[in-house]
Amino acid sequence: MEGVTDGILRQAHNRIFGGVDIYCLPFHKLTQTLSLLTREERDISPEENEGLNILPQALTRDPGQLSAWLYYVSECGYSCADLNLGCPSPTVTKKGRGSGLLRDLDYLRSFMDRLFSDTLPVSLSVKTRIGYDSIEEWPHILALLKDYPLAHVTIHARTTAEQYSGAVHPEAFALAVQSGIPHPVYNGDLRTVSDVRKLVSFCPSTESVMIGRGLLANPALARMIKGGGDADKEELRDWYTTLYEGWKDRFHDTLALGRIKKLMEWPVGDDIRRKRLLRRADNIESCIDTVI
Ligand SMILES: Cc1cc2nc3c(=O)[nH]c(=O)nc-3n(C[C@H](O)[C@H](O)[C@H](O)COP(=O)(O)O)c2cc1C
Repeated sequence: MEGVTDGILRQAHNRIFGGVDIYCLPFHKLTQTLSLLTREERDISPEENEGLNILPQALTRDPGQLSAWLYYVSECGYSCADLNLGCPSPTVTKKGRGSGLLRDLDYLRSFMDRLFSDTLPVSLSVKTRIGYDSIEEWPHILALLKDYPLAHVTIHARTTAEQYSGAVHPEAFALAVQSGIPHPVYNGDLRTVSDVRKLVSFCPSTESVMIGRGLLANPALARMIKGGGDADKEELRDWYTTLYEGWKDRFHDTLALGRIKKLMEWPVGDDIRRKRLLRRADNIESCIDTVI
């Protein structure tokens, strides 16, 4: 998740809670010069991700840029990478990137045709929304995606217009499963084990799920979905302390504390009292005491 997750967080998560099969990297915003930001280079480096299965992701509307980046991903030692067709941010979509690519399916088809006209060095997956303005676009998007040899397709079951809130559309995911696109992965609003059970009873062919905000709020969620236990206080103390120490070494005390507070907003949620305490906290111990 862009601006939230990094190697320090992934490593700490894997060591303390586990349960995640693949950690998806925040997108790399590709450019004409094909140069990456220092933080993007570090994020994808094998050292940063030792012992983890990761899926790098790119944001671009240029098949040449994507192809060059896929060679870079391969040189880093990875075998699969993802194209972002899901980002709904207006600064991204107005340039026709992210879910902006869903607005012009003729262009998306020509993009895919050009990309797959050569053999790719690694396999490609996509992460998509179910439409730009309307869910009625979904069958057309599915028909397009079905025509390409994608490794898997992650589906955030909302349109771009719906951003990140409001009801999700599990029926759109079920349609994807029936359509025969390769390995559909459900994404959207899985916050509890019971949410996952509901999804699976609605769509019994569900193979895999992607979880974002639910895992930030409850870092043990993936483990719990696989039958493991809830997070205990010691684990949570270890989690926040490890993140703080890691970020302090990498950035600066103040930045590290700011980052921890931002992360803690997810478990604190709408609890006004704890929100206030967290805002006032000026050291890591007070932050941790507020949250666990
Ligand atoms: C802060 C933030 C950063 C995100 N960054 C990315 C990203 O880099 N790539 C991506 O595909 N999705 C990104 N997303 C979207 C999530 O991966 C996910 O699709 C969305 O939050 C819905 O799933 P959830 O309800 O499990 O969080 C981001 C979401 C948030 C809230």
